[in-house]
Amino acid sequence: MRTAQERREDLKAVFHEASACTRCPQLAATRTTVVFGSGNSDADLMFVGEAPGRSEDEQGLPFVGQAGRLLSELLGEIGLERSDVFVANVLKCRPPGNRDPLPQEIANCEDYLFRQLELIRPRVVCTLGNFSTKLLRADPTGITRLHGRTEVRTIGPRTVRLHPLYHPAAALYTRSLLDTLKADFARIPDLLALDPPPQPEPVVAPPAVLEPDLIEREEEAPALEVEARRVEEDEAPAPVPEAQLGLF
Ligand code: URA
Repeated sequence: MRTAQERREDLKAVFHEASACTRCPQLAATRTTVVFGSGNSDADLMFVGEAPGRSEDEQGLPFVGQAGRLLSELLGEIGLERSDVFVANVLKCRPPGNRDPLPQEIANCEDYLFRQLELIRPRVVCTLGNFSTKLLRADPTGITRLHGRTEVRTIGPRTVRLHPLYHPAAALYTRSLLDTLKADFARIPDLLALDPPPQPEPVVAPPAVLEPDLIEREEEAPALEVEARRVEEDEAPAPVPEAQLGLF
């Protein structure tokens, strides 16, 4: 079982990998920064939005524009701060002109989000809007039908309480959606107070049985290991500045 500190270090390594990502050539060419996510790397509560907008792309942090201000305000109403939760997006790069994420971009980026969920281990995940709700439920049902309907869902190796919410940007423009978003938000403290959902059994790999010729090669391993380590150290990425990562 990895400690919170070890998981945080692993999360930084994923951040580092994502910040050099070129899986979506257009997004890699047009972004200013990769917006990995920010908040408490051991949070019980995680929010997943859609994609960075202009302010997020400029600052390298999620939900720092108008929608982000509303998100912080709603958190305040339930007695939480941004530093208590982790906030991420389906896409880590801004789509040009804030267009919708493309299916191929979502597919290219989903592995970063799944690894974030695995390392942060939230008990409650609030999806914000259609894109994250559809991705994390692996189903095309939209947010209008699903908002406020909490489900226990297994996402990769973790089982969480998934609580779909309207996207705060939508609520900025439509008063009735804001009222609904506030009502759905008000249920979050009760969800956090529940026992964590039971986790799936970890998949245990069977012990490896070495063939005789592999055992011989194993004996040469120390030299190879030193070699490999030297290459890794030479290519070791620069440490990630904490402020840029936005971890608290
Ligand atoms: N909208 C999102 O979905 N994510 C952000 O980070 C900002 C606005």
